[in-house]
Amino acid sequence: MNPSIARQSVEQLGGEASVLARQRRDHAALEQLMRRYESGGGPPAERQRVLRDLVQLTFSHAFAEETVLWPALRRLAPDGEALTARVEDEHQRINDLVTEMERIGADDPRHDELAAEAFALIRQDIRDEEDLLLPRLQEHLDRARLRRLGSAWETVRRTAPTRPHPAVPRRPPGNALLGVPLSAFDRARDLLPAGVGSPAGRRAAAALACLAAAWTLTRATRRVRRARPLR
Ligand SMILES: [Fe+2]
Ligand SMILES: [Fe+2]
Repeated sequence: MNPSIARQSVEQLGGEASVLARQRRDHAALEQLMRRYESGGGPPAERQRVLRDLVQLTFSHAFAEETVLWPALRRLAPDGEALTARVEDEHQRINDLVTEMERIGADDPRHDELAAEAFALIRQDIRDEEDLLLPRLQEHLDRARLRRLGSAWETVRRTAPTRPHPAVPRRPPGNALLGVPLSAFDRARDLLPAGVGSPAGRRAAAALACLAAAWTLTRATRRVRRARPLR
C-alpha cells in the first residue's frame, strides 16, 4: 500500500495536474475555511461568507469525486466497492447536516453544533481519502493517467452542484441525471444576493446564470465523454 498522499511530494503524486495533487490542494483549502469559521472572529456577515465558500467547495468537490473518481476506483481496485461505500456514506451524512443547518438558519443555537458535526465528518472524509482511497488509486494509475483523471475531475468540479442535495443518489448515473440540472440552479442562487436590486433583476440574473451554467455543463459533459478511457 502506498503511503498517505499527505506525506508524498508533488512529484511523487504525479505533478501539479495529477488528481492526487489537486485533491490535496482542495483539502487544504477546506481545512483553512473550517478553521476560519471555527475561530469565530469577524462580523457575522463575514462568517456566513466563509461558510458559504466552504459549502460550495465541499459539495462541488464531492460531486466530482462521486462522478469521476469513485467509479474509476471501483473499476480498478478489488476493494474499491467497500472503500467508496465508506466515503459515500460520509458525503451523505454531510449533505443531511448542511441541509438541516440551512433549514434552521444561522441564528438557531443548534446551527454551530451541526456545523461542528459536519466539520468532523469532512475531516474524517479527508483522512479516509488521503490515507486509503487515493493511495489505492495511485497503485493502479501511472502519471499520465493520474493527470487525465485530474483534468476530468476538475472539469466536473467546476460545473458541479454547490449546495447539499440529500435526495440525489451518490452514484452515477442517478447523481448526474439529477445533480447536473440542479447545478444550474445552485450556481444561479450563488450569484444572487449582492448587486441585483429589484425582484425582476434577480429573476433575470437567475435566468442568465441558469443558461450560462447549462451551456458550461453541456461543454463539460462533451469534454468528459471525449476523454480517453483509463483502461
Ligand atoms: Fe476529496
Ligand atoms: Fe470526499
